[in-house]
Amino acid sequence: MSETTPGTPYGTLPAAAPLPPRKPVSLPRLQEMRERGEKIVMLTAYDATFAAVADQAGVDCLLVGDSLGMVCQGRPSTVGVTLQEMCYHTECVVRGVRRVQGTVWVIGDLPFGSYQESREQAVRSAAALLQAGAHMVKLEGGGWTIETVRFLVERGIPVCAHLGLTPQTVHALGGYRVQGRSDAQAQQLRRDALALQDAGATMLVLEMVPAALAAEITQQLPRCHTIGIGSGNGTAGQVLVMHDMLGIHLGRTPRFAHNFMHGASGVLDAMSAYVRAVKEGRFPDNAVHAW
Ligand code: KIV
Repeated sequence: MSETTPGTPYGTLPAAAPLPPRKPVSLPRLQEMRERGEKIVMLTAYDATFAAVADQAGVDCLLVGDSLGMVCQGRPSTVGVTLQEMCYHTECVVRGVRRVQGTVWVIGDLPFGSYQESREQAVRSAAALLQAGAHMVKLEGGGWTIETVRFLVERGIPVCAHLGLTPQTVHALGGYRVQGRSDAQAQQLRRDALALQDAGATMLVLEMVPAALAAEITQQLPRCHTIGIGSGNGTAGQVLVMHDMLGIHLGRTPRFAHNFMHGASGVLDAMSAYVRAVKEGRFPDNAVHAW
């Protein structure tokens, strides 16, 4: 007879199988994964319970994304999210991860207005996210941000950059659309990506970039791991907004998302299916989820 957890108002449950021990994800481990061609699996998380389930499912990295402005707060964009809110959600996620294996690499998103003013402001904001428990911070854009990335990295702060569709500048970009389609845009993306690696960024989210261009940029960046979202399967890893992956949304589902709840017995099962699909190179499918 299987062991059961004590009775609850919801009935008894079979005891969960002990988790196989996992090594904590770190920058050297991400580099090792990259070198042996193992895809990096990233998911967004905003609270303790979902973060714990993601850790249990074998997700490598959790991004406390400012997408929380849209999926948790119901805003039309990420622009209104504050640093204080990002710190609060980062603390929640980190508590959840520590309740399970504590092996996940946690990235805190620097929200709009928390790093644009000066490099000193960026350090203060990044320090607040690291003090909330993040291991790395993410900021959006190329151009002037490259020197900010260098300034942060020189001060011991690991940085994930973000190119392509950068939601904090959605108004300037004219909407949520594919970036890098023209030759000039593609050239700019290649230049920015290389400069960000040279500045010390060790991860780079590529959002809604044509698959061929994202794969080419990935090949050019051996020390900066590209994480695609709507950018095809040629990147070093993948990220999805958790709500998109679970098939729940307030508006339209982006074309690059896939509902992993289809055929799953629950959230843990769906997250495990996402992890397997990315690791085995089955998600994303360039014919369906990319441009
Ligand atoms: O805020 C976020 O969730 C993000 C991902 C979409 C990459 O930046």
